[in-house]
Amino acid sequence: MKTIRIEASRCYDVGIGPGLLEAAGERIAALGGRVRAMVVSDDRVFRLYGARLLDSLRRAGLETAQFVFPHGEREKNLTTYGALLETLCRERFTRRDWIVALGGGVVGDLAGFAAATYQRGIPLAQLPTTLLADVDSSVGGKTAVDLAGGKNQAGAFYQPSLVLCDTDCLATLPAEEYRCGCAEIIKYAMIGSPELFEDISRTPVSSRYEDVIAACVAMKRDYVQADEFDTGKRMMLNFGHSFGHAAEACSGYALPHGEAVAMGMAVMSRSAAAAGICTGETADRLIGLLNAYGLPSELPYAAEALAEAARADKKAAGDTLRLVVPEEVGRCRIETVPVGDVLLWLRRGGVK
Ligand SMILES: NC(=O)c1ccc[n+]([C@@H]2O[C@H](COP(=O)([O-])OP(=O)(O)OC[C@H]3O[C@@H](n4cnc5c(N)ncnc54)[C@H](O)[C@@H]3O)[C@@H](O)[C@H]2O)c1
Repeated sequence: MKTIRIEASRCYDVGIGPGLLEAAGERIAALGGRVRAMVVSDDRVFRLYGARLLDSLRRAGLETAQFVFPHGEREKNLTTYGALLETLCRERFTRRDWIVALGGGVVGDLAGFAAATYQRGIPLAQLPTTLLADVDSSVGGKTAVDLAGGKNQAGAFYQPSLVLCDTDCLATLPAEEYRCGCAEIIKYAMIGSPELFEDISRTPVSSRYEDVIAACVAMKRDYVQADEFDTGKRMMLNFGHSFGHAAEACSGYALPHGEAVAMGMAVMSRSAAAAGICTGETADRLIGLLNAYGLPSELPYAAEALAEAARADKKAAGDTLRLVVPEEVGRCRIETVPVGDVLLWLRRGGVK
């Protein structure tokens, strides 16, 4: 097992390795005592791993309750969030008790926002079960639910007290979810680690989960510790996301997040190559790796529609947008561009 310590507004360990669900009860009891634990999960994940987690919590002397909702992004909304808060209140949870999020990014974001706001904040353990949640959403304290007007529009920065990435859970991950996690891993490699880029070009991510997740979490730790509230350096983690979010919006959120990010990274790298910011070889290497992992590299929407959606994204600040642009494999920079130029960046990246 590997452990990475995050020192942000709250300090906590991220454990990475097999068998961690079985250890969750002990680990939480060591931090919080014999508290009560509200396990929050979606129906698919709970069916697979709920019993194992509940057993571990009970063996450690914790009292348990559970809140299980239907899987999918559509459920990451105010209604489900409200129902979870009401359940916590009805079960008389106090600020000593814990929320234990068991699932992918949808569960983690929703449970995290409830932990941030129930009684002004109760302890949270993140037990991610998707590759994307392991390398990204479970660490760093961004929590949110979606509003009718957009994704992640209501939320809070709220760090967990413990994160356990049990790599055994990845054995049941559907192929599409695996690919989406790989898109985020390729993003980390492009923004800061040529070594990781080489590693995952040579050996599939699935053959060495523990090392790859640890490499990504260590990078995320550095960004979060430098810029917890996402006003500067942390924005580098948005590589591929400005155009990716625009593509998600154009698809009515039917497009999986990881695929959208892959498309966004590919178009951005073509655009950067056309502008002379990186070489054509850098763009080709990125696109080659995306394709090797079965990820798309074209944005199948009209440039005007994408530009309009990018302007509406919450990451746009007034008249400008900060784009993360590749310089070479393992190095990117942030460019502040007028929103009016987004169309040009898309067109230069080959979008019609
Ligand atoms: N907070 C952050 O920093 C952050 C970062 C990136 C993404 N996100 C959010 O994360 C969400 C996407 O997360 P996701 O991709 O994990 O999606 P998800 O939570 O919807 O999980 C994807 C699907 O896989 C299933 N699943 C999960 N674990 C499984 C397992 N081990 N075996 C079999 N099936 C499993 C789920 O039931 C679901 O149907 C989005 O809402 C996005 O906004 C948040």
